[in-house]
Amino acid sequence: MLKTHGCGTLRASNAGESVTLAGWVHRRRDHGQLIFIDLRDRDGIVQVVVRPDDHPEAYDSANVVRGEYVLRVSGEVVERSDATRNPNIATGDIEVVANSVEVLNAAKTPPFSVSEDDEVNELVRMQYRYIDLRRPAMIASLELRHRLNQFIRDFMTEQGFLEVETPILVAATPEGARDYVVPSRLTPGAFYALPQAPQQFKQLLMVAGVERYFQIARCFRDEDLRADRQPEFVQLDLEWSFCEEEDILALLEELFVGVAAALRPDLAVPRPFPRLSWHEAMERYGSDKPDLRYGLELSDCSDIAATSGFGVFSSTVADGGRVRGIVMPGGASLSRREVDGFTNLAKTMGAPGLVSLQFSADPASATEDDVRSPVLRHIGIDDARKIGERCGASAGDLVLLAAGDSGMVSTVLDGIRRELARRLDLVDDSILQFGFVTDFPLVEWDANEQRWDALHHPFTAPQSEDAHLLGSDPAKVRARAYDTICNGFELGSGSIRIHERELQMRVFELLGVGADEAQRRFGHMLNAFEYGAPPHGGFAFGIDRVAMLLAGTENIREVIAFPKTMSASDPMTGAPMEIADEQLEELHLKIDAPATS
Ligand code: AMO
Repeated sequence: MLKTHGCGTLRASNAGESVTLAGWVHRRRDHGQLIFIDLRDRDGIVQVVVRPDDHPEAYDSANVVRGEYVLRVSGEVVERSDATRNPNIATGDIEVVANSVEVLNAAKTPPFSVSEDDEVNELVRMQYRYIDLRRPAMIASLELRHRLNQFIRDFMTEQGFLEVETPILVAATPEGARDYVVPSRLTPGAFYALPQAPQQFKQLLMVAGVERYFQIARCFRDEDLRADRQPEFVQLDLEWSFCEEEDILALLEELFVGVAAALRPDLAVPRPFPRLSWHEAMERYGSDKPDLRYGLELSDCSDIAATSGFGVFSSTVADGGRVRGIVMPGGASLSRREVDGFTNLAKTMGAPGLVSLQFSADPASATEDDVRSPVLRHIGIDDARKIGERCGASAGDLVLLAAGDSGMVSTVLDGIRRELARRLDLVDDSILQFGFVTDFPLVEWDANEQRWDALHHPFTAPQSEDAHLLGSDPAKVRARAYDTICNGFELGSGSIRIHERELQMRVFELLGVGADEAQRRFGHMLNAFEYGAPPHGGFAFGIDRVAMLLAGTENIREVIAFPKTMSASDPMTGAPMEIADEQLEELHLKIDAPATS
């Protein structure tokens, strides 16, 4: 080893020891007669002092070094005087008085500072990720992920789950996104897909008798990216035979509580995790992943709107839409412009607008003078009162109403609710508020494609009491599916699966996958179900997303060593790239892409 100790490990108890350190120059300060170097390695930072009189050669070397040079320093650990102790760093009680300073490698001036916490353009950080990752906050993020993976492996092993690796070059598994595909050289014109999730393999492992499987699995999805989405990401994927919903939810609660206690003991984790049916979540919060740290629940005013003198309201309800509202406590004092701010936000989420009612008196007894609303003269004071009361508004509150088709109204009011919580300072960062959402619908109608789509995936079992509706009223069929949510994010999803060929065929048929296509694409699953498939279920959660919450950030890229940009590219390596003509020929591929500028 080129070093005897990690820089960040030295303490007062090491005083008097001769040590050799190796690391990067974090900062260098020249005090004329003394040079101070903060030397950094993965363990932390220590102050090195170089004096010209004692060791002139060391001083000469120290004189030429700059930020991010790689050094090897030998010297003696000396306790600092009380006046010079630095309580802000772990090694602040000591310093290392150097007797030799060797430059192992020089460094150009980095594109951004490792030692300062400056705002740096994220693209530049990604382009020079090997420098970005030197920053103490990024090392901490890598360590957090390492400990998270470690915890998960230990926990799942203790629970009797077996880690099994599944292939990356696969046949497509439908998880709702586009596939990344890989051309096959040996079968011209054929393609592998990269797995969106190991869904089919883990179910086949259940047929194989593994009973309890898990994997820290890499998944690939070509979908629109967001702050909490990456084209490749990592799941804790698990599957379990002979279990029911309750077994999986109990296991997950244990796992998440354990993870939080191990990695963020400073955060409160309320137990038991609250449970909501999907229907209840959508009604109360307009979202299947509501942030349960605060209230601000939605209210339905469709019946009042149906008979209202305001044409937009009555026609919305007549057309099958809904009118729902949310209250901002204290919002009656907002200016017209501030209220318009919410309307503009709603427009970005697809609403034509929002209707506002500001109550300066209790809605139950409010007169026309107590209500400020652009639609008051259309709806009249009676309906204004009813709406205020229905939404639970008090004197001094603002009610915001959205009208339109149910899905849009939910999306908009969910967004408004999150914004209100931020404005009202209701988001408590000291809590990890987990919850379970259950009883998802099995399918949803895709009006564009004119077909039923699986809400989770096609292998999810319908609830047995609803299965008779598969043919007649699919929208009413609830699935044996559940999600784990936390602080307004979806962490993971799972379900009890179909394990019988006949039922699987019926669900494929509902999804518009005919018998021939089902056999061609999923024949292996259907066949496997005929060889003694046990009842089974499972779950997968996004490890990147969990790491993001544990790290206290809302940007998934902060907890990924080498993330991709929002356009799924890597500014460091240049991926994705064109490939050479010979390679294309070998793969029997011709490119017919629009010219890029
Ligand atoms: P699902 O598709 O819901 O379920 O994915 C499970 C979890 O994976 C994470 N996730 C992502 N994280 C980052 N970037 C993405 N693009 C991304 N997509 C998904 C989320 C999500 O909740 N096979 C099923 C699970 C099962 O039924 O067992 C599945 O993959 O945190």
